Amino acid sequence: MPPEEHKLKADDAIDRFCRQYLQLERDLEYPPTETLRELDVQDNIYRRIFADNALAYTPPPRYQLRVLKELTSRIEASIEDWDLHGVSDDLMNALSSLLARQLPSETTAAQQKSYVTYTLSLLDHHGNAAQTPAQITLLESRNLISASGTTGLRTWEAALHLGQFLCTNPMLVRGKRVLELGSGTGYLSILCARFLSSTSTIASDGSDEVVANLPENFFLNGLQDSKKVRAMDVKWGHALVGTEDKHWNGGMPIDVVLGADITYDKSIIPALVATLEELTGMFPHVTIFIAATERNQETFKAFLDVCEKRRFKVEEVDFELLPRQSQRGPFYSDQVPIKICKIQKASGI
Ligand SMILES: C[S@@+](CC[C@H](N)C(=O)[O-])C[C@H]1O[C@@H](n2cnc3c(N)ncnc32)[C@H](O)[C@@H]1O
Repeated sequence: MPPEEHKLKADDAIDRFCRQYLQLERDLEYPPTETLRELDVQDNIYRRIFADNALAYTPPPRYQLRVLKELTSRIEASIEDWDLHGVSDDLMNALSSLLARQLPSETTAAQQKSYVTYTLSLLDHHGNAAQTPAQITLLESRNLISASGTTGLRTWEAALHLGQFLCTNPMLVRGKRVLELGSGTGYLSILCARFLSSTSTIASDGSDEVVANLPENFFLNGLQDSKKVRAMDVKWGHALVGTEDKHWNGGMPIDVVLGADITYDKSIIPALVATLEELTGMFPHVTIFIAATERNQETFKAFLDVCEKRRFKVEEVDFELLPRQSQRGPFYSDQVPIKICKIQKASGI
C-alpha cells in the first residue's frame, strides 16, 4: 500500500477508536495490529485521549482503565520485533497511575453519572478542522432506567439518528423556533441551539429529574448563558395553556417539534397525540419530526394510526441508517431499524 494511503487508513482507524472511546462505547474498534505497533500512532492516541488535560470531560476511571489495559496488551501482541517497535512510555505511565488509584467498585461506578462525548462527523466540513470536530458532551446515567423510573438520563439511538438527519438537512431548523418533547439529556436541543442555528429551542420533558439535569448539559456545551435554549416541564396530555397563563410560552410560536424515542409505550400514545394536537391547534404551521427505534413495530404503528385517525398528515422520511462500519460519529446500532416521520396538521382542518 502506498505510504499516503497507509497514513490515511491509520488516521481513520485512530479517529474511530478515539471517538468511540469518548462515546463510552462498550465494544471499541481498536486500530489494526500493523497500525498499533507504530510509536507515532501510540503517541497520537495518548495525546488525544489519555494525556493529562487532553480532555475537558474524561470518561470514568474504570472505563479508562479497561480500555488502556486492552490497548496496551494489543500493542504488545502486535509487536514482532522489539528492536523495531515498543509500547509508548506515556501509555504505560497512564496505565500505572490508573492502577495505583483507588477506583470505585463496579456497583458504585454503575450508579454514577458519566461524561459522554458525541462527535458530529457530518458537521466536520462546517469550518471545523479534522482535529477539533463538532462535539456534544452530556452527563448521562448509562443505567437503563434511573431510580425515579425515567429513561431520559441517557441518549438513545433514535435521538442520534434524528440528529444525523438534522445535520444533513440543517435548513429544517435554521432560524426556527424549536420545541423538543421528551428531550431526555437534551442532545437534539443542544444540537439545534449550538450547531444548527435554531433561533430558540425548548428542551422539554415530563420527568422532574430529567428537567433538573438539563441545565448541567447546557453548561457542558457552553450554553449556560444562552438565550437560545431553555428547559421546560411539559407532560404530555396535560394542557399546555393553564388557567393562569393566557398564552403558552409567553405567546412565542413554535415552528418545529422534535421527538426521539417517545413512542415506545402504547399506553402513553393518547397523551402524546393530545399534546401534538394542542400544539398544532395553537401553531397550525408547525412541522413535527418523530424518530422511533422499531424495537416493536406494533407500538410505532399504533402511534401513526392514532395520528392518522386524528387527521394528521404523516409521511415517512427516507433517511438511511448507515452500517456501523460507515459511521464516523456518533456511533449507534445498525441492527434495529429507526424510522423518522414528518407529521403536520392536514390542510383544511
Ligand atoms: C426513551 S427516553 C428518550 C429521551 C431522548 N429523546 C432520547 O432519545 O435520548 C423518553 C423520554 O420521554 C420522557 N417522557 C415519558 N413519558 C412522558 C410524558 N408523559 N410526558 C413528558 N415526557 C415523558 C421521559 O422522561 C424520557 O426523557
